[in-house]
Amino acid sequence: MNSFLKRNPTYSKYDIDALKIPSHVAIIMDGNGRWAKARGKRRIHGHAQGVKSIRAILDFAGDLKITHLTLWAFSTDNWKRPKYEVSFLMNLLEKYIDNEKANFMKNRIRLRILGNLEDIPVKVRKKLKTLIEETKDFDKLNLNIALSYGGREELIGAFKNISDKIVSGVLSRDEIDDHVIKSHLFTADIPDPDLIIRTSGEFRLSNFFIWQSAYSELFFSTVFWPDFRPEHFFEALLHYSQRERRFGGIQ
Ligand code: FPP
Repeated sequence: MNSFLKRNPTYSKYDIDALKIPSHVAIIMDGNGRWAKARGKRRIHGHAQGVKSIRAILDFAGDLKITHLTLWAFSTDNWKRPKYEVSFLMNLLEKYIDNEKANFMKNRIRLRILGNLEDIPVKVRKKLKTLIEETKDFDKLNLNIALSYGGREELIGAFKNISDKIVSGVLSRDEIDDHVIKSHLFTADIPDPDLIIRTSGEFRLSNFFIWQSAYSELFFSTVFWPDFRPEHFFEALLHYSQRERRFGGIQ
């Protein structure tokens, strides 16, 4: 039962008691460029507008008492984009941290970055590290921003670290199991996502959460990320609630 949804007239026509609220929702925020192009604007306008969606979805996730929200903001492949677009995104991230800091503190939101923080320009990296440190004891909502993140790169890093431990005798080959692999991922202390949403009508995961998505439900929305709002998120939750997760067993 979710009292926020019950109190909200927008959702009164739905059977809120039957709604399953996932613990961890991960979103591939896609379609910023196409959103801008459709309006005759440069791609960067789509990114700027996309921040408004982040705000709306983060608030909604908090209201629903979702404990983990992961947003994929920048992939390892995104470094190949034109320089001005990459620096615009980095500046946007910096502004986001400056503007949202008070919200993180007030609503006890813990920030984590999934990906290679050392790739991020030093000025932005410092701000991210400070906010990560300042919010590390918060537990109401965990916001994980995947940044300079790629699923294969994450696995390669994990396998290298595991190999080093085998070579140095800290770990034996026979001890390798799914727990050992998970403990070497960026998401070592984060539950796997129950639901992964991709916006903009693309039907693939594109190197996102390769290991973590093994049992996730997938929902693909045709809405471009800058237009994605709580009602679209709610639609994903309705689909999620109707699905039966059996994890390979029978029920
Ligand atoms: C994908 O759309 C989106 C991105 C590569 C960037 C996402 C970034 C934001 C929403 C804003 C900045 C993030 C934070 C956390 C402040 P695309 O550009 O690939 O769109 P397209 O597929 O239509 O070209």
